[in-house]
Amino acid sequence: MVTVIVGAQWGDEGKGKIVDALAEQTDIVARYQGGANAGHTLVCDGRTIVLHLIPSGILHEDVQCVIGNGVVLDPVALHQEIAMLEQLGITVRGRLFISHKAHVIMPYHKLLDRAREQQQGIGTTGRGIGPAYIDKYSRVGIRVVDLLDRHVLEEKLRTNLAEKNALLEKLYHTEQLDVEAIVAEYLEFDRSIDEFVTDTTMLLHNAIQEGKHIVAEGAQGALLDVDHGTYPFVTSSNPTSGGACTGLGIPPTAIRRIVGVAKAYSTRVGNGPFPTELHDDRGTQLRSLGAEYGSTTGRPRRCGWLDLVALRYSVIVNGITEIALTKMDVLSSFDTLPVCVGYRLGTKRLKTFPVDVPTLDAVEPEYIELKGWQCPLYDAPAFEDLPPQAQRFVALIEEYCNVPVTLISTGAERHQLVQRT
Ligand code: GDP
Ligand code: IMO
Ligand code: MG
Repeated sequence: MVTVIVGAQWGDEGKGKIVDALAEQTDIVARYQGGANAGHTLVCDGRTIVLHLIPSGILHEDVQCVIGNGVVLDPVALHQEIAMLEQLGITVRGRLFISHKAHVIMPYHKLLDRAREQQQGIGTTGRGIGPAYIDKYSRVGIRVVDLLDRHVLEEKLRTNLAEKNALLEKLYHTEQLDVEAIVAEYLEFDRSIDEFVTDTTMLLHNAIQEGKHIVAEGAQGALLDVDHGTYPFVTSSNPTSGGACTGLGIPPTAIRRIVGVAKAYSTRVGNGPFPTELHDDRGTQLRSLGAEYGSTTGRPRRCGWLDLVALRYSVIVNGITEIALTKMDVLSSFDTLPVCVGYRLGTKRLKTFPVDVPTLDAVEPEYIELKGWQCPLYDAPAFEDLPPQAQRFVALIEEYCNVPVTLISTGAERHQLVQRT
């Protein structure tokens, strides 16, 4: 059976921590989309590990980790990450399986990403994600399976490089790439990546047949989804739960649980509409208390109050069956906690989340103010031992979104987690 973990907001909700926690009772953790634009943080016994490509189950030695076909794989970033984990004494070989159908990020994707960013102003991570997915859908992409065949790889690389260098020179007036150097560098990957590559679709199919438990790990968040997010200020893949099926080759019927990971407030990194964003001291306070700086780019994250209109939309598009609420501890010092429960547009009250940018930019959030609990939260209390104001905060989310909050995270460490049964 499959449990999907999705980001329910604009990314960085704490998916890594929740996947790591659930991995304890899991056989396989499989990433289904995105690439090294993601930064998933695991904190275990004071040690902080940030993962960009390798699934967040890797710290559990008996868990297998899969990078699915929906991921765009940067071999350079992958090798750096494997080396980092091995240096920490974590076994990767024999436990990591990469889909032969995944597309590969090339140096020209990163250059094109940065060149286009100058014109588009989305605030991308510069990791080449958009251009790699463009090539995938244009049917000129290079896949992991191509890395294993030197002749195919060389031919495809040369064709792509001719086109991309022309674009870089003529359209973007930027640096061009040295064709021979790249051909030589990428031909080397066939040796180093071979041992990880397999048909992960069949691996997952067999695991499902055997009754194994799989966690499908999403990157980014629903509001950054290319179809359902705040387009064009989105990423170029489908972080929503449907992406788990296409990005891994698993059937929707295999999915039993969909856990939406949501922060107790909101953050966004990069540009785009953000109705509950705070531009005052309280925003600065959230950023500093929550250490809200990007795990991948180090950029300060924009911060604001919890937005239940957006979260309810996310519950709908993902089919979220339960919410994992993270970073409750960050709210502990506030005397009042505004929570957005509606949007006003002129004299109208909007009942649903509008995804067009001009409307979202124009809406006025309507808040209800809850009382803060103003005391530290214990590491892993029973739900009933949380301060009554914190319980009320959780109850409001459940009432508004009509799904239970089954996990509550009260700190970055692995054990700082309340599990409600
Ligand atoms: P992801 O991309 O969704 O995996 O999230 P990130 O790792 O980018 O950002 C979440 C940040 O919050 C990381 O630094 C985590 O270590 C941290 N974190 C996760 N849960 C909690 C929590 O409950 N409390 C606090 N204070 N930090 C948390
Ligand atoms: P995790 O998995 C937060 C944002 C970028 C930018 C937009 C498009 O750690 O939650 P891209 O490089 O994907 O083309 O950038 O998406 N973005 C993220 N924001 N968390 C992420 O990943 C993100 N990955 C991309 O900041 O606004
Ligand atoms: Mg992150």
